[in-house]
Amino acid sequence: MAKPSSDYDKFRWFNEARYGMFLHWGLYSQIERGELIMHTEQIPVAEYEKLADTWTVRGNPARAWARLAKRAGMKYMVLTAKHCDGFCLWDTKMTPYNAVQRGPRRDLLAQYVAAARAEGMRVGFYYSFVDWHNPDCQAFNDSPAARRRFVEFTRGLIGELLSNYGPIDMLWYDAIWPFNARTLQSRRLDQLVRRLQPRILTNDRSWIPGDFTTTEGRIVPSDPGRNWEACMMTNDSWGYAARPSCDWICPRDILRMIRSVTGAGGNLLLNVGPKADGSLPAQAEPLLTAAGNWLAQNGEAVYGKMDRRREPLNDCWTHRGNTGYYWCTVCYPRGRFAIGAVERRVQSVTLLPGGKSLKFKQEGTRLIIENLPARNPDPIAQMPVLKIIFG
Ligand code: GLC
Repeated sequence: MAKPSSDYDKFRWFNEARYGMFLHWGLYSQIERGELIMHTEQIPVAEYEKLADTWTVRGNPARAWARLAKRAGMKYMVLTAKHCDGFCLWDTKMTPYNAVQRGPRRDLLAQYVAAARAEGMRVGFYYSFVDWHNPDCQAFNDSPAARRRFVEFTRGLIGELLSNYGPIDMLWYDAIWPFNARTLQSRRLDQLVRRLQPRILTNDRSWIPGDFTTTEGRIVPSDPGRNWEACMMTNDSWGYAARPSCDWICPRDILRMIRSVTGAGGNLLLNVGPKADGSLPAQAEPLLTAAGNWLAQNGEAVYGKMDRRREPLNDCWTHRGNTGYYWCTVCYPRGRFAIGAVERRVQSVTLLPGGKSLKFKQEGTRLIIENLPARNPDPIAQMPVLKIIFG
């Protein structure tokens, strides 16, 4: 692959995307109790392996995921190429424990990449270093020979992922135990990754910083100057598990997360766990679509290069240059209300969407808005946004 020119900003798409779809899908989806079931229920390898023959997938479910991601306002997708159970969703030569030689009998990753690209999504692979299927991983810290083999195994797998599927935008490492940067030879691996995909972005879970920080289950901005993403769940489980409806978040929750990451210059990677056959749980579509409809109307407060606030989690505002977007989150202020701590002169206040102009005056640092519509103008999430242009 050609080396990018020196003025190429590999972070640009990431900084503008804001929102992506995380997908945990694998053998474990058949059991319907999450992606860590092999570990949490201490299922022996020989027993768990049988799932590789019972897994069937019809058609290319990634088409529906990618279409939904697009309707949801997401700009990238990250699928579990290999989770900790070690089963590879692609046509690997490194192990027969893969979706081409077992159950599904096809390259699920190739299907996913094609589907994601067809909808204009940036493409990411999740890759777990941990591998409960490979005995060399278990012996990693005790046997130098096992360690050597496992490092080469890892390089072989990652080499395939980054050689056989065209340009890949993101490699999303995951790791729990038992490695470190020295034993896994993370820097050497990173060189391989950059050689194969010079424009790729990597997260920070290979014991070296990588290109961006990822926080899990919490929105925690990284240090200024560092790119970051928060990965979050929709229902208290990454891999598919039948969950009571109270475990599911609502569209407003999604928008609140998007507001937080936008204001602090990060991204949201929101998970859905498809069922084993690839269909999405019934709750996913209405949830993501509703938030997507909101984003279609209010996207200018979210997408593109936004300014990062100095107080990262002062959650009501997002900013771009001379424009501030005030998200009426807590409760809808009827009629007249004031926003405090507005230091700059304001030129105009309008309501997104529609652009209705609102009357306002400034008293000191209070911005007083006089004529908000009596009824909340946002039927989707009760979260209208005011666009405020500063002078
Ligand atoms: C946690 C889970 C892992 C999941 C990851 C996503 O680390 O243990 O299964 O893939 O979160 O960030």
